[in-house]
Amino acid sequence: MPHTIKRIGVLTGGGDCPGLNAVIRAVTKTAIWKHGLEVMGIEDGFQGLIEDRVRPLSSRDASGILTRGGTILGSSNRANPRRYCVRVDTVTGPVWEDVTQQCVDTARRHGLDASIVIGGDGTMASAAPLVEAGINIIGVPKTIDNDLVGTEITFGFLTAVATATDALDRLNSTADSHHRAMVCEVMGRNAGWIALTAGVASGSDVILLPEIPFDLRKIADDIDRRMRDTGFAIVVVAEGARPQSGKQVVSRFDPTSPDPIRLGGIGNLVATEISDLTGVETRTTVLGHIQRGGAPIAADRILATNFGFHAMAVLASGKRNRMVVRENNMFSDIALFETVGKQRLVSVDHPLIAAARAIGTSFGDGAGSITPKAIPSALV
Ligand code: F6P
Repeated sequence: MPHTIKRIGVLTGGGDCPGLNAVIRAVTKTAIWKHGLEVMGIEDGFQGLIEDRVRPLSSRDASGILTRGGTILGSSNRANPRRYCVRVDTVTGPVWEDVTQQCVDTARRHGLDASIVIGGDGTMASAAPLVEAGINIIGVPKTIDNDLVGTEITFGFLTAVATATDALDRLNSTADSHHRAMVCEVMGRNAGWIALTAGVASGSDVILLPEIPFDLRKIADDIDRRMRDTGFAIVVVAEGARPQSGKQVVSRFDPTSPDPIRLGGIGNLVATEISDLTGVETRTTVLGHIQRGGAPIAADRILATNFGFHAMAVLASGKRNRMVVRENNMFSDIALFETVGKQRLVSVDHPLIAAARAIGTSFGDGAGSITPKAIPSALV
């Protein structure tokens, strides 16, 4: 460890996901036991730096949290230091301020020589002012959406997939009993990773992704065929999916958030259209935040532990402002801001899409079998 680093901060930013505590545990224990550092926990992401809510983290604090969902530090997806909503004016709306100096002052007051920032692209972007102030930031990629550029997987994703798969399995049996079509809307923002993998894992009949705009008439034909074959049908739809001739459905617009748009509602739209076009009784389930809560599955505990350990190894190597990643099943690191403002979407000729199409799964576009792209397709 560089001799200039004696004390580090750790924070969790953005939407939570299973495995955050497993990373906090790995970072804290490795920092204390392997590198002899002091660790400070920053509460509620960058909000804790804005409001000076920073507390020591001991190895005892990091014990017993491996299996716990959420984050013992709390999180926030509103606290971007450069563009922070300080109040909402009843006439002019949100009032934004640059509170960078408050964050830098808090970091200096607590003697933070470096920080481990666990978050997605928004959180990494929010770290920019600290980097400019000379604080070394090592990022750890988090999100159930699995859409961060530079890493083939983010922790939290596999647990969300397991949760969605379990829900789809349950919908399967009730759909069968009542001879219905069931539409299940899953999260993922503009990326279809959760829908694709949970859809394939559950053997869903139709999988609708943001990356493949759908045709409702084709979906209706697929449902008709499936009803004739087996008497029920399962459709999984990503919240960011959209018809070929339409737009994504927005459920909420929050002007006080740096990321104001929340997707949601496409499940109901698809279900209504299926029912109108086919006459099949159709129901909708929106899984929502259930996908973000609860204990991480074993694979995410392991991935999160590896990411936490590698973040400390990168710090110890003397590198500055990097994000740990996994690529081709190997852990490495990329520039911290490489992921900012980008999204890793599902390629339309991804091997898993080719496999699903080959076994008769519809993507709502009427396309049949395709040739898979020769890309690494590791999802676990
Ligand atoms: O990025 C994670 C995620 O759960 C997305 O899948 C979803 O669109 C969004 O966050 C929901 O955000 P919020 O918790 O603010 O409603």
